[in-house]
Amino acid sequence: MSENPYQPIDSEIIDIIDESPTIKTFVVVTNGPFKFETGQFVELTLPGEGEAPFTPSSSPNDTEKMEISIMNAGRVTNLLHKCGKGQKVGIRGPFGNGYPIEDFVGKDVYIVGGGVGLAPIRSLFLTLVERAKDFKSIVCRYGARTPEDFIYKKTLHGKWQKIDGVDIKLTVDKANGDWKGNVGVVTTILKGDDVNIKNAVAVVCGPPIMMKFATLKLLEFGFADEQIYLSMEKNMSCGFGKCGHCMIGKYYVCKDGPVFTYDQIKKYPKIWD
Ligand SMILES: Cc1cc2nc3c(=O)[nH]c(=O)nc-3n(C[C@H](O)[C@H](O)[C@H](O)COP(=O)(O)OP(=O)(O)OC[C@H]3O[C@@H](n4cnc5c(N)ncnc54)[C@H](O)[C@@H]3O)c2cc1C
Ligand code: FES
Repeated sequence: MSENPYQPIDSEIIDIIDESPTIKTFVVVTNGPFKFETGQFVELTLPGEGEAPFTPSSSPNDTEKMEISIMNAGRVTNLLHKCGKGQKVGIRGPFGNGYPIEDFVGKDVYIVGGGVGLAPIRSLFLTLVERAKDFKSIVCRYGARTPEDFIYKKTLHGKWQKIDGVDIKLTVDKANGDWKGNVGVVTTILKGDDVNIKNAVAVVCGPPIMMKFATLKLLEFGFADEQIYLSMEKNMSCGFGKCGHCMIGKYYVCKDGPVFTYDQIKKYPKIWD
């Protein structure tokens, strides 16, 4: 992080990948080394326009560049979607805590994602498969609205499915074209025997409504509150615990999160809003 946490690091978009009708991945290089841990987030600034928080979707071990997958959701993200290669941007951060990977060692890692929630999950997934032998298994369940809405299509439908110790199942809310897979929300492909719950952790990331119902399902299967890791999104401003925009109960999501166990935050109201 730069000495002044408000000061963005000069950076440039060197490539843009169209992932789905609403999501693009921006390949960014920073002026100087930039390190982050999987699950941490950055503030991406479009000079003169504003900034927004995003979780890098690339592996932290790829130190040459950082990939950030962005859904066109509002003012800044819409402007970012109109940018081309060579666009100068700023990066602040990294902020927050990231996933406690060492606590996952020796366990089944049960990853549940939806929508653009696959962005942080991709970073986590890549980090885990780089040392796949350290984990009992890596099980991923991911839902998109339609087959076109899947992101990282090439790897998600191909390379990732073939990795030893990895088990991926996909679903869509609404089928079209030649989709032959499951139709239904992501909770319809969660099964109580997908993993050995006694020796597992679950990681959930996606839209709030999906996180809520996935968490309820995991609890029904017998996961304990502290075995469920949630990547929380709240409106943010400073990114480092000063402005108070992002609070859940006593926690600053930007500083104490964005990754929390369900146990940490379950008692607070409106966690899924
Ligand atoms: C820690 C963290 C990591 C994130 N990672 C990603 C990511 O990897 N990829 C990605 O596409 N998006 C991510 N987001 C969400 C992203 O920050 C918002 O989509 C973005 O701030 C919207 O900015 P905007 O100016 O385009 O939209 P605005 O014009 O500000 O708002 C558009 C709509 O989105 C809502 N909104 C604004 N900010 C947020 C927010 N932080 N969370 C939820 N809703 C919001 C507004 O209430 C409004 O309804 C992340 C958010 C957080 C907090
Ligand atoms: S974003 Fe300012 S305190 Fe969290």
